[in-house]
This record gives sequence, structure tokens and C-alpha cells, in this order.
Amino acid sequence: MSRRRIIAGNWKMNKTPAEAVALCNELKDLVKNDAVDVVYCVPSIDIVCVADAVKGTNVHVGAQNFYIEDKGAFTGEISAPMLKEAGVEYIIIGHSERRDIFGENDILINAKVKKAFASGLKPILCCGESLSLRKAGTYKEWIARQIKWDLDGITADQVKELVIAYEPIWAIGTGETATADQAQEVCGLIRQLIADMYDAATAEAVRIQYGGSMNAGNAAELLSKPDIDGGLIGGASLKPDFGKIVNA
Ligand code: 13P
Repeated sequence: MSRRRIIAGNWKMNKTPAEAVALCNELKDLVKNDAVDVVYCVPSIDIVCVADAVKGTNVHVGAQNFYIEDKGAFTGEISAPMLKEAGVEYIIIGHSERRDIFGENDILINAKVKKAFASGLKPILCCGESLSLRKAGTYKEWIARQIKWDLDGITADQVKELVIAYEPIWAIGTGETATADQAQEVCGLIRQLIADMYDAATAEAVRIQYGGSMNAGNAAELLSKPDIDGGLIGGASLKPDFGKIVNA
């Protein structure tokens, strides 16, 4: 397997610019690993100073949100060209918090994936089921439906550059991690789905992360699974523990 591991921190709505720079400095030596893509997905206001703070290191900068137009009357939004110029490479799209709290649906998420590729940003596309869908046993169909909607019109060459994050909502911020087998089951299913929608080479190339209470204690087991190529980490990305996950 030649997929490169990708460990991304989703800082969510945490860290002022000064705190963000301090965290970058605190993590600098801990996240060194030439075999891993390390990404900090930071609040928009922190992007410029984080891009400066990580210059010359192995850390890539990501954003957590953007809008599909380049400019104009869209109060409160930020555009792909703005992110690009500030040094952003990766963009989280379709996080469950944006779907559930901010009402983003799969039509908008699909438009964002298209716009990200058109703008030279690499999407980290999130999917995942609620606890009730997990309990009902319909989570596989749910996730397949999300991926099909969100990738509508996306080419195989684009999917090869895509990162998909499987984040079961019941495991986000709850301290309850999916077991490595539960995470592998869905990540394997996503890879099979990509093979069915595209082809074997595309499925082999797409990188799939697990996210949801990943921490220094459980990362190594999760990352040992064949279809888990990395992690999207919330709470633990704000602590020195993040270095242990990068090097797990
Ligand atoms: P936690 O790691 O805090 O559970 O968050 C996961 C997540 O939502 C990453 O996008």
C-alpha cells in the first residue's frame, strides 16, 4: 500500500491568533515526521499567522469552511481564492457540525467539493452517521448515500487527490471512540464504494481518515487497519498529544 498517511487537526472554533501561534510553537518538534502529511485546519482568523508560524516545517495549513463564490455580497463568508493566497492547501467540507448546526446539505457540499478542486484546494470530505442510524443498523446505506451525493460529477483523477474522513457523530467529542474494527468496517466500505463508482486504481489511491475521539492512546490501533490512512482529530489536536498521534 503506497498511500501516504495524513494526520489532520481540526481545531474547530478554538485558539485566538496569539494562542494559535503559541500552539504551533509548542507542537513544532513533536509533529516532525517526514513520512506523514500533517495538517492544521484552523479558524479563518488564524490562517495567516499559522501559515507564517509553520513556514519551513512539515506542517500544511487547512481551513474549516469556505463559500463557493470567489467574491461578492456574501456577508460573513470567505472564498477559495482568499484561502489559497493565505497559504491554505486543505479544506474540510461536510463536517457533521456544519451539516447539523449550520444546515449544510449534500447539494451545497457537492458544490463545495467541485469548487475546492477548481480552486486548487484539496478537500477533506467528511461523512458519518448519527447514533440512531448506528443503532438502527442503516449506517452503511446512509454513508454510501452521502458519498454518492457529495461526489456527484467529481472525476476519478480528482478522487485520487481527495481525502475522505469517516466521522461517526456519536464518537465526536464524546470520548467514545469507534472500535478499530468498527472504523475499519466503514472505511473499507467507503473504499469499496469508490471502486464501484470509479475503478480499482482510484479506490487504491483515495485516502480515508477516521475521526472521533482519536487520541494518543487509541491512534496506533486505529491506524494499523488496512483502510484507515490517517486521522481527523479534534480535541487532541490542541495538545502535545497530537505529536504522539502523528508518530503513532
Ligand atoms: P474529536 O476528536 O474531538 O472527537 O473531534 C473529531 C472531529 O470532529 C474532527 O473533525
